[in-house]
Amino acid sequence: MKKITVISLLAVTAIYAVNKEPKKEMPPIVKEGVGYIKMMGKELKMNMKKHMKADKSGVAAAKFCSQKATTIAQEVSKKYPKGVRVYRTSLKVRSDANKPDETDKKVLENLQKEMDSKTFVKKPTVVKLEDGKTRVYVPLLVEKACVKCHGDTSKMNPEVKKIINERYPNDKAIGFKEGDLRGVIVAEMPNKK
Ligand code: HEC
Repeated sequence: MKKITVISLLAVTAIYAVNKEPKKEMPPIVKEGVGYIKMMGKELKMNMKKHMKADKSGVAAAKFCSQKATTIAQEVSKKYPKGVRVYRTSLKVRSDANKPDETDKKVLENLQKEMDSKTFVKKPTVVKLEDGKTRVYVPLLVEKACVKCHGDTSKMNPEVKKIINERYPNDKAIGFKEGDLRGVIVAEMPNKK
C-alpha cells in the first residue's frame, strides 16, 4: 500500500513538471521573446490558413507566401519595440534571404541532434550574443499542412511546384515529413542595461 502511494505521488510530480514548470521558470526576457514570436506566428498562420481554406491545392497560399508574407512580417515588426527583430530560418532554406548565421546554425544543429537522438523537447533556446543582444529560438515542426509546400516534390501540386521553383531557384526546403524539424522562429532583443 505504501509503495503505491509513493509511485502515484511521483507520477503526479512528473506531470506537474511537464505542464507547469517550463512556463513558471521562464525568465522575463524569454517570455518577452516568445510573446513577439507568437505575434508574428499568429499573423502569418492566420493568413496562410485563410488562403489554404479558400484554395485547398495550396496555389493561393504559395502565392501569398512568396509575395505577401514579407509585407505582413514588416507590418507586424512595426509593433515591436525598437531594436527587436523576429525572423525565420532553417538548415535547409527556401529563400536565400532566410539563411542562418553562425549562431543560428549552432542552435539548429543542436536541435537537429536532439531530434535524431529522440531527446527533443519543444521549448525555447536562449542565446546571449557577444554584443549583449539576446535571441530566443522557438523550434518549428512540420505539420500536415506544411508538407504541401515542403514535402515530397513528386506529391506536390504541379502549380505549387512551379510557383516555388520560379521564385526560389535555390530551394532546399523540400523532402520534409510530418514531425520533422523544419526550422526556428527567432526573436532578437537589444541589450537592456
Ligand atoms: C503554401 C505553401 C507553404 C506552406 C503550406 C508552408 N510554407 Fe513554409 N515557406 C513557403 C515559402 C514560399 C517560403 C519562402 C518565404 C520567403 O520568401 O521568406 C517558406 C518559408 C518557410 C520558412 C523560412 C525558412 C526558409 O526556408 O526560407 C520556414 C521556417 C517555413 N517556411 C516553415 C513552414 C512550416 C512550419 C509550415 C507549416 C506550418 C509551412 N512552412 C507551410 C511556402 C509554404
